[in-house]
Amino acid sequence: MSTPVKKVPIHLQSSQNRLLVKNGKVVNEDGMVDTDVYIEDGIIKQLGRNLIIPGGTRTIDARGKYVMPGGIDPHTHFEFEFMGTKSVDDFYQGTKAAVAGGTTMIMDFVIPRKDESLLEAYERYRANADEKVCCDYGLHVAVTSWSPKIKEEMATLVQEHGVNSFKMFMAYKDLFMLHDQELIEAFTACKNLGCVAMVHAENGDIIAANAKKLLDAGVTGPEGHEMSRPEEVEAEATNRACVIANQVNCPLYVSSVMSKSAADVISAKRGDGYVLFGESIAASVGIDGSAQYGNDMNKGRLCIMSPPLRPDPTTPIDLIEKLSQDGLQCTGSDNCTFNADQKALGKNDFTKIPNGVNGVEDRMSIVWDKGVHAGIMSPTRFVAVTSTNTAKIFNLYPRKGVIAVGSDADVVIWDPNRKRVISADTHVQAVDFNIFEGMEVTGVPEYVIVNGRVCVDDCDLKAVHGYGKFIETPVYPPYVYDQIEEREKRPRGVARTAAEMKKYADEDAALA
Ligand code: URP
Ligand code: ZN
Ligand code: ZN
Repeated sequence: MSTPVKKVPIHLQSSQNRLLVKNGKVVNEDGMVDTDVYIEDGIIKQLGRNLIIPGGTRTIDARGKYVMPGGIDPHTHFEFEFMGTKSVDDFYQGTKAAVAGGTTMIMDFVIPRKDESLLEAYERYRANADEKVCCDYGLHVAVTSWSPKIKEEMATLVQEHGVNSFKMFMAYKDLFMLHDQELIEAFTACKNLGCVAMVHAENGDIIAANAKKLLDAGVTGPEGHEMSRPEEVEAEATNRACVIANQVNCPLYVSSVMSKSAADVISAKRGDGYVLFGESIAASVGIDGSAQYGNDMNKGRLCIMSPPLRPDPTTPIDLIEKLSQDGLQCTGSDNCTFNADQKALGKNDFTKIPNGVNGVEDRMSIVWDKGVHAGIMSPTRFVAVTSTNTAKIFNLYPRKGVIAVGSDADVVIWDPNRKRVISADTHVQAVDFNIFEGMEVTGVPEYVIVNGRVCVDDCDLKAVHGYGKFIETPVYPPYVYDQIEEREKRPRGVARTAAEMKKYADEDAALA
């Protein structure tokens, strides 16, 4: 465990904060170039060959390696109170694991307790996270009920607290779920504030009815989870969310796209010009959901999450292909970890299994292995789907998500050929199992530089408790709102000529 440190202002830190990354291949979403990277005071200061730099600067030789923007995980749930328990990776352990895997920023979700206001919940998350995070973080806020007060609080969060994204749940009936009228109003509020609406897309009414039917029929095992919420239940809600958002011209980000059918909806609607983004997660591109239907019910419980992992074994490759072809845009982890004994809360009733799996640590390796190493995805697209697109959608770009002069020095030096075997015995996360247990992946972060500090040093993790900070996300991300504004300008009525209008006016006058 690393030692907690006091935050030392960057400008008071010494020449350790000067770093030259030499001889690597710099990969951004738009191309690759052989160049050196000079970092000072947490910022990328120069790119090029034969740079003139101060003496005493540490040099890292990145020959044969890729030098990429640190990963940004848009979807974590650290220390989340949920389904009668609490996720075990807290903001320290969770961000430490993120850094170990090559992720240098995470975005978590403020989810209010029952009777807690959005602002109180936000303050609680800030208090929990600020002192613990090992890397920078941002916050999305979940809107789990609807009222004029919630609408006011959304405005306050945007104007005073650096929030630009709100998540609405279409599942978890009687807990977080919003109905269509509420979604219309919440999406409209997001649009009016210049924010991005996010959804957990599953039809919560159908799930509740199906779950009851299955339990009444004696189906209590983990298979009941996926049976109660099959692909079309996800695809229907995804389609509905897309239509509602499109009708109010609000940008929409669909979290945790878990099925081919839901991914098909997103990729088709994007083709139709919707301002829409789809997120796959490490779990769904790394494994399928067949364990839920296996004889080992303990194992089946461990991979329960929502929307569920799909038993269709062709799902992971389909999602990776869509990620590489821009059918989907981002990869998160939806990291929400519960130990095996917490999962056992649902051993006699699948509806009581706490939902959530790991992924924050292994996300980058899984996407590299299943995408780039498998020959499906280019390194530039890897950067887009693990970092840049998230930075653009949530208005962190070009501060984050790119290796460029002036950007934060969040950098990963990636060995594309090194292999490792994923295991709970060696992972950093707090959770006592790993859904990718035993999987060999090719592609390992050798160095991870967080705001200019080497936090993984030749594969040795040196993450620092409390070193990260909260990053505000400004409203009206241009990457998103340029499209929204363009659509706003489009004429809605029929463009009639002056002569036609006069003809109608004359006819009206004649009738009067
Ligand atoms: O199963 C999941 N995804 N747990 C976390 C809550 C959510 O739905 O995002
Ligand atoms: Zn969700
Ligand atoms: Zn989630």
